[in-house]
Amino acid sequence: MKSSPWWKEATIYQIYPRSFFDSNGDGEGDLKGISSKLHYVQELGVDAIWLSPFYTSPNKDGGYDVADPRDVDPRFGNLDDAKRLIEVAHSLGLKVLVDVVPNHFSDQHVWFQQALKAGRGSAERARFHFYDANEDGSPPNNWISLFGGPSWTQVEDGQYYLHLFDSSQPDLNWDNPDVASDYEVTLRFWLDLGVDGFRIDVAHGLVKENLLTNHPDPQGISDALRLDVSMDPEVRYALLPTVPYFDRQGVHEIYRKWRKLFDSYKDREIMAVAEAWVHPPVNATRYVRSDELHQVFNFDLLDAPFKSDFLYGVVNRSIELMNSVGALPTWALSNHDSPRVASRIGEVQARALALFVMALPGSCYVFAGQELGLPDGEIPDSSRQDPIYFRTKGAQKGRDGARIPLPWNGETAPFGFTTGRPWLPLTDKWKELTIEKQSIDPKSTLNLYRSALKLRADHLTTQGSITWLESPEHGAKSSSLLAVRRGNVSIYMNLSDLPVEVEITGKLLIMSAGTVDGRDGKMTIPAVSTIWVHH
Ligand code: NOJ
Repeated sequence: MKSSPWWKEATIYQIYPRSFFDSNGDGEGDLKGISSKLHYVQELGVDAIWLSPFYTSPNKDGGYDVADPRDVDPRFGNLDDAKRLIEVAHSLGLKVLVDVVPNHFSDQHVWFQQALKAGRGSAERARFHFYDANEDGSPPNNWISLFGGPSWTQVEDGQYYLHLFDSSQPDLNWDNPDVASDYEVTLRFWLDLGVDGFRIDVAHGLVKENLLTNHPDPQGISDALRLDVSMDPEVRYALLPTVPYFDRQGVHEIYRKWRKLFDSYKDREIMAVAEAWVHPPVNATRYVRSDELHQVFNFDLLDAPFKSDFLYGVVNRSIELMNSVGALPTWALSNHDSPRVASRIGEVQARALALFVMALPGSCYVFAGQELGLPDGEIPDSSRQDPIYFRTKGAQKGRDGARIPLPWNGETAPFGFTTGRPWLPLTDKWKELTIEKQSIDPKSTLNLYRSALKLRADHLTTQGSITWLESPEHGAKSSSLLAVRRGNVSIYMNLSDLPVEVEITGKLLIMSAGTVDGRDGKMTIPAVSTIWVHH
């Protein structure tokens, strides 16, 4: 059953426009390409799409460096194509979310260009964070960019500007009223074009504190913020709350205003989801208080090991935390910023975990290609594009592997993605993973997702919360099993390398691997697999 409002338990499919489908042979995906393939997305059984940025951009950070937030980059098409995409999606019953990037603009945005010309002390510079150098010529403080290197860049007249990300992404000054009012225009622009909501990039970063003060451990906080840098969890959790540019109270004032704007579209159910990396986890609940945003991403599964105690902790805590503010959690196993789940924990494990997660209350986010069990791309260093790779001088490989184009059909790369040269190379090894092949294989990961999403809608959404049957704190306290009951369905995930027999009767709805033996009130769940049983 569909939940009401639509987003409450929606499954949302994330499309990285550059990698979805290329309609004009230039090697990069585009809006027309997306429109032409939306029937595939609809058949998958999701409720909505979220489009990563397709705005005018010099593309220094995969389009998250926006030069005009109210126009389409010619590489992706034009505004008519965006309009058409929204219409096609709606005609197929799909809602559309677009990404907004309010923490920063591209240095090519007209405001930043004006700020450079206008000089120190000007109203134009006050829209960003421009400050004089210290007496010794050094930057105003010692913060480190999330992409490596200093978070300040000096301009010709000696002033520095702040950029938490690449030097081509100057941070906006949200204390400046011009910034808030311009963003309102952007939000209205897309809402008036027909979108159903927004994914808010770096939602926790808009307000900064102690801008002119050094942090005692700038490298420490920078590492603590990166999932791909390993760190003792205690050290990490001690550092995170001290980050002076994330999760400050002021951000909530901004979202209260945005919520009023969304609610002013009275006949529509507009929603917004925050990308907010915050610690401690309870802080995430603040973003979804009833007068703020609708959802907040839960990133805990993006780097979770395939271990029952860890997964139990994440699932249980996420549900309880969100419940404390009357919200539902969100679940994501992959996105464009982190290694693909099939590469990170293994293909079979990724199927089992996906089937477990699709049964849980809340919204599921599926990153395009995840439904194919796609691993990370094999990218030679010479093809890398991510600024993280360049700013860390190759020490970190960056996120290109996750952003690989989709394999659609055929026997050799680029598998129908483009008639030209793909912007990132696909590998011939993927010929069994194409959408064409998987569509006709009943045991494929694609068909697992299709069936699971249908069963989820038929039996699980709107069925309220879960009761734990097996966990480190419930049932036989087995270290190999996690199991919950939701409505009339029991969901068992066997994390061990051996089959596990459980006492259970009912009709087997779906399984992620192998064959399930069932007799005499017992079922044997294959190694590393999840099953759903209907009672
Ligand atoms: C988060 C986005 O998901 C990521 O791709 C981007 O690089 C940063 N924000 C900066 O906008």
